[in-house]
Amino acid sequence: MKVVPVFNMKGGVAKTTSSVLLAEGLAQFCGFRVLIVDADPQLNATRMVLSHTAIAEAVSGPQNRARTVARYLLKSVTETGLPDPRDFVLPKVGTIHGAGQIDLLAGTPRTAEVADTMLVAGANPGRTLENVLQRASMAFRKLNEAGPYDVILVDCPPGLTTIVRAALSAADLLIVPTTADDTAYTGIGNLVWHLQQHREIRPAVVENRRILVTRYQAAIHESNLPSLKRESVFMAPIAERSTIRDARLFSPHSETSFKGKYGGPAEKDFKKIIAELTAALGLARPNSVAKEPLPKDVIHVKGDQDSRELPNGADKHHGGKARPGKKISFSDLFSFSRRPH
Ligand SMILES: Nc1ncnc2c1ncn2[C@@H]1O[C@H](COP(=O)(O)OP(=O)(O)O)[C@@H](O)[C@H]1O
Ligand SMILES: [Mg+2]
Repeated sequence: MKVVPVFNMKGGVAKTTSSVLLAEGLAQFCGFRVLIVDADPQLNATRMVLSHTAIAEAVSGPQNRARTVARYLLKSVTETGLPDPRDFVLPKVGTIHGAGQIDLLAGTPRTAEVADTMLVAGANPGRTLENVLQRASMAFRKLNEAGPYDVILVDCPPGLTTIVRAALSAADLLIVPTTADDTAYTGIGNLVWHLQQHREIRPAVVENRRILVTRYQAAIHESNLPSLKRESVFMAPIAERSTIRDARLFSPHSETSFKGKYGGPAEKDFKKIIAELTAALGLARPNSVAKEPLPKDVIHVKGDQDSRELPNGADKHHGGKARPGKKISFSDLFSFSRRPH
């Protein structure tokens, strides 16, 4: 079981969309059992995979019975033993499963309140914030008992709340979705600085972060890719597509296959992303994604001296000299050699 928070401090960068589509890809292409934890009080991930009625039942019912991340974590940090996750997880949500299955620990607006309560609990005499975070972190990993799961994806809110810190301290790998706009690269630097301020987050998780370029439109974003390329970026970006935008709200009538729901080109991109993700997590590569190309090693370049940051039109394979008329495409960028760190 691998815990994978999907986090960026920015909103609107497709954290939620990526969490859900990655879960669907892992279930369909790999036959994995996946849990989505909706840690955002806006509950957008919950709305993508659960009907209105099901949300009302699980989230809006009597608070002492709510099957939500908020109640699960609150019990984890306030009661003596950790609660049984099977009392909280909703099995088999969404329409895409393939040979796998997607379960959900639903979100609720109360998650924000719980994050505050956890902070206050940490301020109580005899109770440190460190202790509260440790218990919440253990609770994240205990969620596996409701599975077992191959992957637990945590859709995080944009802020570094106590719940996000607990998820990050339980993490095996951090995925950072970002749009490739002008501020994307500096935004990641900013994010890394904030993560480094928290002792409970393992430095290896911050170091080995994987950047997922989302909502990509070549005409607008291509020139910003070289700077992002200094980071460890997934080979395929997620393109801006109406089929993906339309998946914002759950529909019981929606297609049951990844290709049917999002189209062939999206399926092709996600097969590459899933192949890379399973390799990064050290999970076996199933047949359906085994033929997707993988990077020889993980890109991880620090500092400004990276020769891969080329001026537009320059080609590394030609001594870095600009070749008039040659535009760098996304595939060019991702065919550069990768340095191990
Ligand atoms: N690849 C995509 N193509 C089209 N629209 C997208 C894509 N990814 C995300 N969106 C849309 O962008 C908006 C923000 O995405 P969301 O996943 O909610 O971001 P976040 O969770 O980071 O706030 C949503 O309306 C979503 O439907
Ligand atoms: Mg979101």
